[in-house]
Amino acid sequence: MRQKLKQTNGVTYRQIESDFPRTDKGFSDLCQRAWVEINQGALSHNVGQLRKLLSASTQLMAVVKADAYGHGATMVARIALEAGAHGLCVATLQEGIQLREAGIEAPILLLGAMNTPEQVKAIAHWQLEPTICTPQQAWIFSETLSELQKTLPVHLKLDTGMSRLGMPWQEATQFVELVKRLPYLEIASIYSHLATADSPDPTIMRLQHQRFEEAIAQLRHAGIKPPRLHLANSAATLADSSLHYDWVRAGLALYGLYPAEHLRNAVELHPVMQVKARVTQVKTIPPGTGVSYGYQFIADKETRIAIVGIGYADGVPRNLSNKMTVLIQGQQVRQIGAITMDQMMLDVSAISDLETGEVVTLIGQDGNLSISADDWAQTLGTISWEILCSFKHRLPRVAVSDGMLA
Ligand SMILES: Cc1ncc(COP(=O)(O)O)c(C=O)c1O
Repeated sequence: MRQKLKQTNGVTYRQIESDFPRTDKGFSDLCQRAWVEINQGALSHNVGQLRKLLSASTQLMAVVKADAYGHGATMVARIALEAGAHGLCVATLQEGIQLREAGIEAPILLLGAMNTPEQVKAIAHWQLEPTICTPQQAWIFSETLSELQKTLPVHLKLDTGMSRLGMPWQEATQFVELVKRLPYLEIASIYSHLATADSPDPTIMRLQHQRFEEAIAQLRHAGIKPPRLHLANSAATLADSSLHYDWVRAGLALYGLYPAEHLRNAVELHPVMQVKARVTQVKTIPPGTGVSYGYQFIADKETRIAIVGIGYADGVPRNLSNKMTVLIQGQQVRQIGAITMDQMMLDVSAISDLETGEVVTLIGQDGNLSISADDWAQTLGTISWEILCSFKHRLPRVAVSDGMLA
């Protein structure tokens, strides 16, 4: 990893440059062993589908934190903005700077909490838009910005029931009044985040909605005109238009996955990510032969096996060992034995003409069959968000358009 020191406004940053492989170096190199395909057409399509749900007064903020849920933040940001997203949301300062360095000029909301003067200086320098959740934070921002003589748009976060970042909703009016009095802070929005928007039971979501509304009503009562408001993540965007307000902050749905089964009818989303690898060796093992570390699989008959160049260091969870299938030549094939750091084995006895170099689809579509991040999440007892974020940068991200390498 290369390191670069960056000097901004007297603040020095040690920026570890992403070793995210660049896709303009020639695809034949990138697709040798294992890779992640990003379908740009699907991403644009999903942005369009979400925008169709929104009224003309609601704008889409594309959530591209965590390297766009593993899809590649810069590429996703550009495509989402081209397809009509208004701005971007990231979690960390570094994620925001990465997008600005890539030349992206759209509004970037920092969802994470920034608390130090150094961070405030960087936020101002890179024209990012911070979230403020406490009076202390507001004071630090205001003081540091007065040194810089710069005004910054800030977004105030209320906790309406997630019990994560945010000022308790009951204290919204005092909080807003305080921030309004502080120089160099311009309140750009007030927002909150929903804890259970993907649940088929809307009770808690309704309660959070009601609290948000109450907080806003109290502001109005105090003579404060509410600024821009936002509350919805993907699930709430799909579930109920009364939660849309001025912005929706959508992540998962952009990437073509549904936050919950009961929300599948709202729009037609297409998965953006496919994970593929190549067969590196094919051989036949006699009955009784153990496969991989610990012999978690022992062949009960003569078995043709394929070795594939992808493993847990690429982000395929080792806990899927002996529990996952992959697709080859449009057929479902069983993975056998422990998944190792860089490789895994398959039982390919049913495919007679399999050769080294054949493409294996771990997540994605091959012929009529498909395997999704939801399938993996279900087997592992986790959520698709975590699966998408788990693929390491060792896997090149390769842009495809409608199934063809772009
Ligand atoms: C504050 C906030 N808003 C919006 C989102 C987007 O959520 P989703 O990916 O479910 O759309 C997230 C993601 O975790 C978030 O933390």
